[in-house]
Formats: sequence, C-alpha cells, structure tokens
Amino acid sequence: MTKHATSKHAMPHSAAPQNGMLESGMTESGTLQNGALQTGTLHNGVLHNGTPRNDISRLDVPCARMPIDVGDFQTAVFDGFDGKEHVALYMGELHDGPPLLVRLHSECFTGDVLGSRRCDCGEQLAESMRRVASAGRGVILYLRQEGRGIGLAEKLRAYNLQDQGLDTVDANIRLGHLPDARDYGVAAQILRELGIDTVQLLTNNPTKVAGLTGYGINVAARVPLVIPPRPQNRDYLHTKAERMGHLLDAPASHDNVAPAPAMDALFDLLEHHRAQPMTARPFVTLSYAQSLDGCAAGVEDRPLAISGGAARCFTHRLRAAHDGILVGIGTVLSDDPSLTVREAEGHHPQPIVVDSRLRFPIDAKLLSHPDRRVWIATTHRADPQRVQRLEALGAEVLIVPADNADRVDLVALMAQLRQRGVRNLMIEGGGRILTQIVNRQLFDLLVLTVAPLMVGGVPAFAPRQGLLRQQHTRIAQPRYLPVGEDLVVWGRPQRADNGPGGAA
Ligand SMILES: NC(=O)c1ccc[n+]([C@@H]2O[C@H](COP(=O)([O-])OP(=O)(O)OC[C@H]3O[C@@H](n4cnc5c(N)ncnc54)[C@H](OP(=O)(O)O)[C@@H]3O)[C@@H](O)[C@H]2O)c1
Repeated sequence: MTKHATSKHAMPHSAAPQNGMLESGMTESGTLQNGALQTGTLHNGVLHNGTPRNDISRLDVPCARMPIDVGDFQTAVFDGFDGKEHVALYMGELHDGPPLLVRLHSECFTGDVLGSRRCDCGEQLAESMRRVASAGRGVILYLRQEGRGIGLAEKLRAYNLQDQGLDTVDANIRLGHLPDARDYGVAAQILRELGIDTVQLLTNNPTKVAGLTGYGINVAARVPLVIPPRPQNRDYLHTKAERMGHLLDAPASHDNVAPAPAMDALFDLLEHHRAQPMTARPFVTLSYAQSLDGCAAGVEDRPLAISGGAARCFTHRLRAAHDGILVGIGTVLSDDPSLTVREAEGHHPQPIVVDSRLRFPIDAKLLSHPDRRVWIATTHRADPQRVQRLEALGAEVLIVPADNADRVDLVALMAQLRQRGVRNLMIEGGGRILTQIVNRQLFDLLVLTVAPLMVGGVPAFAPRQGLLRQQHTRIAQPRYLPVGEDLVVWGRPQRADNGPGGAA
C-alpha cells in the first residue's frame, strides 16, 4: 500500500512530558529531536531509552465507513514505526466540543476475535464502541500490541504458565518480558494526526494515562471501563488490580452488580412469584432502560445503547430469572435482538414477539435462537402463508384474539402464555407495548434502568391524554440500586384507586 507523506508533528511546549518523567533523550522544550519522536521504551510514562523513531503515517487508503451493531463508525489505518497497521475507529465531530472520549485498545486476538473469557478485552472493546456510539463522538485506537506487547505466541506461553499457577505478571517475567511491554507513542501520534490533543481516556489503567500524557496528549479525565468479572477471569482481573495498579474499584465496578441486599430482595421476589400456584396470567416484570431525559430510543427509532456494561449484565441476570421475555414487533424490526442470556449465568427465557400483522423478518436473529423456537403472537387476520413460512423457519405462531384496535389482545395473550407454562414474563419494550401494559395495568413489577445520558430521542412512553390523578401508577416502596454508572429503580406498582397491582 502506498503512503501519504509522513507527517511530523512538533509538540507544543505545553505538551512536554510531565511530572518529571523525562529521563533522557528529549529536549526540554518538547519531545522531538531531528524531527523524529523520541519514544524509547516508555513504561508508566517514563522514558528509559530515548532512541529516535520514525513518525507514524496514515496509509493512503480512504477512510472507510464501518457500520457496527452500535452505530456507524469511520476507520482510518496508520502505519506505525513498528511496522504494524494501527486502526482508528471514530465517529462524530472530533474537534469541536468537550474533550473527546478516546479508548486505546490493545489488540487481543483471543479476547476480541474468539471471545475468550481469560481476559476482559473483547468486552472492553464492545463496551468502548457502545460508549462512543452513545456519546455520538469519540475514537477507538486499535493498537497492534497483542499480549500487552509481547505477541500472540508469547501470550499463549504465558497462558500455559498461568494454568500452572503463575499470575499474569509472573508469567510474563518468567518468559523474560516486562509485565507490560506496551508503549503509547504511536497512539499519541495517531491522535495528533487526527487533530486531537485533549481526551477523556476510557481506561482503568493509570499507565495509559501516564503514557499518553508523557507523549504530550492532555488527558482531561479518566473514564472507568470496568467489565464485571467472570469466573474464568476473576483472578486475572484481580492481578491487574493488585499488581498492575488497574483501577477496578471505580464506580462501574462489579461490586455494584454483586448480590447486595436490595438486589437479592429483587431476585427473591421473582423466585417467590415463580413458585406460586397457577394464576390467570404470568407475573409480569416491566423492564426497560431510559436516559435522564426520559428517552428509550434514538431519533427515528434508531437503536440506541442506553445502559452500561454492568447494567446489561444485570439485565441478563434478570432475563435468566424469567420463564418468558416479550417484546413488540417494533423492537424486532429496529434492534433485531437475540433476547438471550449471554452476560450472566442461567437459562434463556422463552422469547415472545407481539406482531398482529406478521411483519416478523425472515432473517431475524430470533429465528436462530440457541435452544428455543420463538413464539410470535398474532391474530386471526394473519396471512396463513406467512404463518406457514415463519413456522417453516422455526418460529411458532400463536393465534390470539384481537383487541379493539385489531392488535393482539394482551390480556388474552397473557392467559395463553400462562397456560403454556410461563410463570413469569419479562417485558422489555418497546414504547408501544410498554404503554399498553401500563395503561391496562398488566404488570406486577417495574425494573427501570436510568443511564446518565441526555439523548433527545424518543420518549419511553407515548403521552396519555385525560388521565385523572388517582389513575396514576405509583411505585410503592421503590428501591434504588446503583449498577455501574446507571441507576436501577425497582418496585411494585400501586394505584391510588385499586391498591397494588398483581397477577390475578
Ligand atoms: N430502552 C429500552 O429499554 C428499549 C427496549 C426495547 C425497545 N426499545 C426501542 O423501542 C423502539 C421500538 O418501540 P415501538 O414502540 O416502535 O415498538 P414495540 O413496542 O416494540 O412494538 C409495537 C408494535 O407491536 C405491535 N403490537 C401488537 N399488539 C399490540 C398491542 N396490543 N399493543 C401495542 N402494540 C402491539 C404493533 O405492531 P402491529 O400492529 O404491526 O402488530 C406495534 O406497532 C425501538 O427504537 C427500540 O430500540 C427500547
């Protein structure tokens, strides 16, 4: 591939390494000598060996649009002095506005590509993309620093040593490597190439903050990126915290999703109702996420990742505590959800979609559910050929009486679901279904996640006209749980006119 002319970016005086971290090889006024960046080996922001290196250059390939689940990104590729192609994945306005959200993500084949649970890399990458998409602007630098800079083969050797009892730090040392051999000079240069000199850094790793600062990028804030540990990486994350100084006790820590009394009470309540004798309908949990300004979706119903990683794990745990999970066809058309339990232990609930006109797409992910046939609830008016087609593709179509508006009658559907063994049902949206469920007082528990975002999108509920004050639905004895950066509010509905709601 051809390259652009290499860009040399002199650092401004203000960008000189800070906190006395300069040991050798740099001029006092900056970090450039002879036009080349003095990178040496920078660990924890300390330059140990100031050997001049070439600048990075942007490869002469056009920026490419990169549509990802969470949103549309742009990509640019940079040739590093290390002979590797580093990638910038970015979206939105990079130069105007508050400091940009930036993630320096070190390549991890096993975590990013294979989804290995030995580390949290894949989940951190996904969460970074989600956060940037949520913010509408930001950059993820995908740096080719496999295995904290020691390469894939050595990382696998280190894994074997870890299986013999060494931790990740001692395994690297045993193999003759530094615990962390990464250098953030390339990252700093790419950011500068993109015209970015101040960032909010999405990381738990203070070394990244020091490293980037050492190369003249102003880190205005560190934004924690804590992924709840899994049984397979708990020790690894513990070592990163204990021996490498990673800040895993930040607000988004897993402590907030570990069983706390208020959390236990919620799951105990669900278990209690699941164990009740036959009722007319399932115990119904209304669960959705909204922003601080009350939105449950972006503009034009574009999918919007609202809750953070910890809250998502919590939601998956909540799914696992239900027999069934229900959404409206609007949600399937816009989000193509799987409705499975992936980020918690437990069984997948039975997925159910309410779809009066059988608009269900034939390539929906729900048709590839790992162990359930999706139930599509429709009315007698549904096209029999469409029913046949969807059933041939693995769905089960339930014919349910229609309501006054010729849509699926939700009361009749619930009775049918109970007959089919669904003892409790989680309703995850979207707005039209939520509105109907609340209007008809068909829920027994609300679990609302509020994320610290202002979205300016679509409100969670359609406005209701002409309701009397006593018809308002109040949540009795609400409980408030911090879950990562989000707040979960849960409680049972109580209506001034008829007392607490409840499965009949
Ligand atoms: N923030 C969150 O937690 C969350 C969760 C889920 C979804 N969402 C967002 O919500 C948006 C989708 O919401 P939505 O309101 O368009 O769709 P929806 O509530 O998922 O589905 C509504 C559709 O369901 C069908 N339906 C059948 N019987 C019904 C009944 N009795 N009452 C109401 N609807 C019935 C109707 O279509 P037919 O008449 O064709 O049957 C209706 O248009 C998406 O943008 C999605 O991203 C957000």
